[in-house]
Amino acid sequence: MIKVGIVGLGYWGPNLVRNFQSVNGAEVHSVADFDNNRLQKIHQLYPKINLCNDANEIFENPEIDAVVLATPINTHYDLAKKALLKNKSVMVEKPLATSRAEVLELMEIADARGLSLMVDHTFLYTGAVQKIKSVIDSGELGNLQYFDSTRINLGLFNPNWSVIWDLAVHDLSIFDYISGGKKPVAVSATGIAHTKMGIENLAYISLFFDDDTFAHITSSWISPVKIRKTLIGGTKKMIIYDDVEPTEKIKIYDSGFSVSTPEDMHKWLIDYRFGDIYIPKLPQIEALKGVAEDFIRSISEKTTPLGNANSGLNVVTILEAAQKSLVNRGETIII
Ligand SMILES: NC(=O)c1ccc[n+]([C@@H]2O[C@H](COP(=O)([O-])OP(=O)(O)OC[C@H]3O[C@@H](n4cnc5c(N)ncnc54)[C@H](O)[C@@H]3O)[C@@H](O)[C@H]2O)c1
Repeated sequence: MIKVGIVGLGYWGPNLVRNFQSVNGAEVHSVADFDNNRLQKIHQLYPKINLCNDANEIFENPEIDAVVLATPINTHYDLAKKALLKNKSVMVEKPLATSRAEVLELMEIADARGLSLMVDHTFLYTGAVQKIKSVIDSGELGNLQYFDSTRINLGLFNPNWSVIWDLAVHDLSIFDYISGGKKPVAVSATGIAHTKMGIENLAYISLFFDDDTFAHITSSWISPVKIRKTLIGGTKKMIIYDDVEPTEKIKIYDSGFSVSTPEDMHKWLIDYRFGDIYIPKLPQIEALKGVAEDFIRSISEKTTPLGNANSGLNVVTILEAAQKSLVNRGETIII
């Protein structure tokens, strides 16, 4: 039985408690939060779970094998490092940390101690993203040409971290996964902060690669409507992934274009193909349960989870470069 301690019981933490409680071979041993009301809410639902205000009590407890962090972004590195140094495997909420250097240090500590270090990239565990991944891996899509993702709503402003650390992190983790860890060579981001806090609440990230793939991500906390839509284009087919759709989240279009290149450059012809549209049936699974199971498996069976530290590193590397570009009005940052 893997005993888990969960730190942070704000908006997201209670979902983690519920899911870890339901994983075979795991039990939530303790939870920590500064806020006693939040602790009491968990106590009412799960009276056997120990409560504490100080996360160090969890890190110091020899009965606890694994720590899950659902605290604000700026605390991730510090708390994860403390837990790893106490020989706990650690799963951190997205994003894994706030810089590439921090992630690399955490990876080094985890590797040296044979501990699991994972990040909750929740969307990788959805039926929709699993389907997209299988369509790409089977070759049905052809070569990836573009990934264009919009994640916008009237969202809660974070006082410390721009919208890309809150929302684009999801799109970047999905891109990283479905593309098999494809790394951009350069990043450019533009956006705006509409408050005196100076934290960008609207942003556009472009990713450039050393081939003809292109990725673009729109993130916003100031949209009147909620949109979660990703267009993925390949040389053979195209996918629309609409996460707001209750069931028909994925549509696969047998559409595309091909260019004939005659010797006379002025006679270029572009042929368009409009074929069938296929809507695959997706399994109804709770992604967070998959996350919790993957973390526990990574500890008990020494497997590599989907949300592994490398994917966390790839995502944070891009976020860090994008943030640098964002404050310099779109300056191209070479990675
Ligand atoms: N995977 C997802 O889809 C998803 C969704 C929402 C949030 N998140 C992530 O979850 C994390 C938390 O976000 P949230 O919205 O729940 O934040 P929140 O502010 O609602 O809650 C954070 C909680 O952590 C507690 N806390 C902070 N530092 C602590 C410490 N040292 N010891 C004990 N308790 C501490 C706070 O008291 C608070 O209750 C963030 O990393 C966020 O990006 C992920």
